Amino acid sequence: MPSPVLSAPSESVVEATVLPRLIRLGPNLCGAAFTLMKLLPARFMLDRAEQRGELGPGTTILETSSGTFALGLAMVCRLRGYPLVIVGDPAIDPALRRRLLELGTRVEICTEPSPEGGFQRARLDRLEELRAQYPDHYVPGQYHNPDNPHAYAAVAEQLTESLGVVDCLVGPVGSGGSTGGTAAFLRLLNSDLRQIGVDTSPSAIFGQPDGPRTVRGLGNSLVPPNVRHAAYDEVHWAGAAEVFRATRELHARHALYMGPTSGAAFLVARWYAERHPDAQVVALLPDEGHRYQDSVYRDEWLAAQGFTDEPPATAPRTVTHPGLALGGWARMDWHRRSLDDALRAPGAPGTGEPR
Ligand SMILES: Cc1ncc(COP(=O)(O)O)c(C=O)c1O
Repeated sequence: MPSPVLSAPSESVVEATVLPRLIRLGPNLCGAAFTLMKLLPARFMLDRAEQRGELGPGTTILETSSGTFALGLAMVCRLRGYPLVIVGDPAIDPALRRRLLELGTRVEICTEPSPEGGFQRARLDRLEELRAQYPDHYVPGQYHNPDNPHAYAAVAEQLTESLGVVDCLVGPVGSGGSTGGTAAFLRLLNSDLRQIGVDTSPSAIFGQPDGPRTVRGLGNSLVPPNVRHAAYDEVHWAGAAEVFRATRELHARHALYMGPTSGAAFLVARWYAERHPDAQVVALLPDEGHRYQDSVYRDEWLAAQGFTDEPPATAPRTVTHPGLALGGWARMDWHRRSLDDALRAPGAPGTGEPR
């Protein structure tokens, strides 16, 4: 008897790795572990733009990103033959930059942050200048393009087929695409699904004043339009020490070698799952650990940054206003409110009301 063909070869590495592996991390906790999560919105945004006739042969793709979205776009653009210009900032590490260059990407680095809106604003301003230089261009716009969240219908379908009903989705928030998109499609089956966003202080996304952040890849200096605040039930601001420890535990205990935003999602999802044993909890784990092997995965680096001086928190403190969440791991019941409503909540600093 001929041996059965298990599956046909994938058309490309993008097709082969665009969806996550679903991995059990606890009795009621499942990790959705991506090789590179941003491949999914990068591919989908270009698919949709092609379908709408907004992209033709030779159209230059312009985008601002300092991390994984740049790499996802670079991979898709290389395979489809689109020239790509990425506007980044010093957070693009040399290894990532070399990968982008090898994939044929032109990389522009903004070296100075804007006084208002930091590097994010400086990158967006430079993008506007580049638009004028490339008459035939397309800007995917991960921060505002609805095709970013819409790309995650595929993940919701995969989770539903594999797990049935999902009760709680936990994920890091940067553009808002992955948590917002996946939860929106899962809620078509379960409107009670609890959507938990994981940010880190100080970040403007959920109403804090912007500032320098130690954990990269989540948080933002501006509030991206793709963050639909009124969809979140709960928000966490995870501290760097807890995030880095959880990232290492994901590897040391589960042999899952992932980046720090995965550690942030795992930290919060595990905490929630232990307290709600009857809930089926899913954590989005966006990228692998290789980029962080000389930082998060090195004890000497952690010690030099002072992360080993004190034991990290094992549970968040609950706050009633984003301004009270600065420093360490904190959580807030967001109650599907708009950002304005959440900021007007009783208990805001300086109101004299109970916290
Ligand atoms: C490594 C990593 N994790 C998490 C996120 C946040 O995901 P999203 O932009 O879908 O909110 C990003 C965003 O760029 C990222 O690069």
